[in-house]
Amino acid sequence: MTDPSTGDQYYIEAGGVSLLLDTRDGDPVIVHWGAPLGPQVPAADLLTAAVPHSMFDVPVRPSLLPQLSRGWRGRPAVRGDRDGAAFSPLLALVGMDADATSLCVRLADEIAGIAVLVRLALQPSGLLLVDAELTNTHTTAYALDRLDVVLPVPPQATESLDTSGRWAREKLPQRRRIDQGTWVRSGRHGRTGHDATAVIAAGTLGFGWRSGEVWALHLGWSGNHEAFVERLPSGQTTIGAGELLDPGEVVLAPGATYRTPTAYGSYASDGLDGISARFHDWMRARPQHPSTPRPVVLNTWEAVYFAHDLGTLSHLADTAAAIGVERFVLDDGWFGHRRNDLAGLGDWWVDPAVWPDGLGPLIDHVRNLGMQFGLWVEPEMVNEDSDLIREHPDWIAGPGGRTPVEWRHQQVLDMVNPEAWDHTLKAMDALLTEYPIAYLKWDQNRDQLELGHDGRASTHEQTLAAYRLFDELKRRHPDVEIESCSSGGARVDLGVLQRTDRVWTSDTNDALERQSIQRWTQLLVPPELVGAHVGPTTSHSTRRTHDIEFRAATALFGHFGIEWDIAGDATDEDRASLGAAIAVYKAWREVLHTGRMIRGDSPDPSTQLTGVVAADGSRAIYSWAQLTASAFETPQPVTLPGLDPARSYRVATALPLPSSAVSERSPVAWTADGVELSGAALAVLGLPMPILHPEHALVITVEETA
Ligand code: GLA
Repeated sequence: MTDPSTGDQYYIEAGGVSLLLDTRDGDPVIVHWGAPLGPQVPAADLLTAAVPHSMFDVPVRPSLLPQLSRGWRGRPAVRGDRDGAAFSPLLALVGMDADATSLCVRLADEIAGIAVLVRLALQPSGLLLVDAELTNTHTTAYALDRLDVVLPVPPQATESLDTSGRWAREKLPQRRRIDQGTWVRSGRHGRTGHDATAVIAAGTLGFGWRSGEVWALHLGWSGNHEAFVERLPSGQTTIGAGELLDPGEVVLAPGATYRTPTAYGSYASDGLDGISARFHDWMRARPQHPSTPRPVVLNTWEAVYFAHDLGTLSHLADTAAAIGVERFVLDDGWFGHRRNDLAGLGDWWVDPAVWPDGLGPLIDHVRNLGMQFGLWVEPEMVNEDSDLIREHPDWIAGPGGRTPVEWRHQQVLDMVNPEAWDHTLKAMDALLTEYPIAYLKWDQNRDQLELGHDGRASTHEQTLAAYRLFDELKRRHPDVEIESCSSGGARVDLGVLQRTDRVWTSDTNDALERQSIQRWTQLLVPPELVGAHVGPTTSHSTRRTHDIEFRAATALFGHFGIEWDIAGDATDEDRASLGAAIAVYKAWREVLHTGRMIRGDSPDPSTQLTGVVAADGSRAIYSWAQLTASAFETPQPVTLPGLDPARSYRVATALPLPSSAVSERSPVAWTADGVELSGAALAVLGLPMPILHPEHALVITVEETA
């Protein structure tokens, strides 16, 4: 094959995605990001649009870093100044490195005194990784306000999608028509945020999970950030993302460099499932991706809250082990004077008032039952009522001269202070050294809009300090897994997931809410990293009551766990049903955690199909959930997409439905004994479904027949 990169243009392709960069006139422009262009890549100048009246005298194009100096009247990618000067750089190409799948573009403006390096790398999965570095090449300081990653999308992308949310209701999808103007999602939480968008996406009209062309971008960053979609009067449309910097936060000394978080671009011609598959494939190919079967978890939070007691928790552990639990996680309440959430954060020593002999007796008990032991910590936070803050009142991060408003009675520890950082590292290291802890549930329970160190904005440095803490603990204790929890799902991003092993998806264990929260979290994060627990019969967050089958069917499609007092609050029947669900999870977790996710575009919005098809196409597991009452008298046939059309499969139900879940005078034929059908018939004709009352789900297994 001849090198498709010629002269002033560079073409890279991988995993069914391509990118064409035109560097004419020293102005690198991505003229295409999307489907491969075939054997003959066109000359990029062919794509240059006509110049209209009342306009700059040269064609204006969305540069790799769109800038005012080239006539871009949209959001500039680089903002900054040198004491008022150098406010509008003219960045021109000064060098390129390229291979078949990646480009490294070097730009500079000698007058403004800045140089920028942009790296674009297509991964085997087709995911596009982009980051940039800006260096101050001048002799005076340069204050940086913004350095965005920006990607073009073609005019046929007319609808945008992002997610918002709040505590216990994360990842709410929002769609809108892309009109002229800028739709910006700003996160100013000092953490990723409950409302942080999983992706900013633009797609063809009506794109769904399984159809439409879609371009999506995610910023791998756990601090303040912006993501946007912008359409100019020219029709030119871009999606972009970058860190949201506070005034004076990044001031580059001569020679200093600022680096953006990595942005992840996903393109698909087959809807959001395709977008999702590229994220999942890329994550699964990382060396640090968890490769052992994801253990069944029991977390003590909604079982006992702060009421820690060795006898009660040992009994809970016995009950858990008996039904097949593999990891027992002791949540908040074991340290300092932590009898409630008013005090103790920062005092990472075991509280002798509740644990007179330390955690050893419980940990031994758990491990003797054959389970791993996990522990909750919240290292970046402090209560003002703690020995730590009494000793170091200046270790609270803030704007300077005053203490920020409390949130859950807590403050943020100033991790930019090296002493505070060292102290926290030592405290965590001591715990992991003293006790055989396999897993940390690492929490972060407040927004902090005024993060500061020594009176200067510090969210950027604080976020990097937290990353360094994760990294150093992982280096010292490589076998310890870490969960990223932040009041539920307020720190779910690929920045933190580069150094952690799962996310706590949401503080709600209500299965109905979870059907949606997990679906949209899993647009980005593969199910093996998405914590999903069976909570109490009546949800503590919504007071809704669900039977155990619906709760289990929902938790099955993530990293399965339990968060419920199964010793004191569950019946024998509950425990038997839970044991059966755990057996299904164990039998299917390899498929669930390595296969391709399928989300149906249901013609009936009251229902939802979720599935995972094994990588070799031999097995699949689906859940068909009735979320609300349907507008239809009887369920419409449900197609099971994603299977091999040429193979034969046996279709059966996995978890028995309670009789109270079903509302019908005659059952559909296949649910009693299963049925054998081709992948084609299942994808085209589908199957009739039982009539379910709302808030129930049928779990369907599909296995290739010999
Ligand atoms: C946060 C977490 C919960 C639980 C509590 C403990 O809210 O999201 O799962 O760990 O803290 O205080």
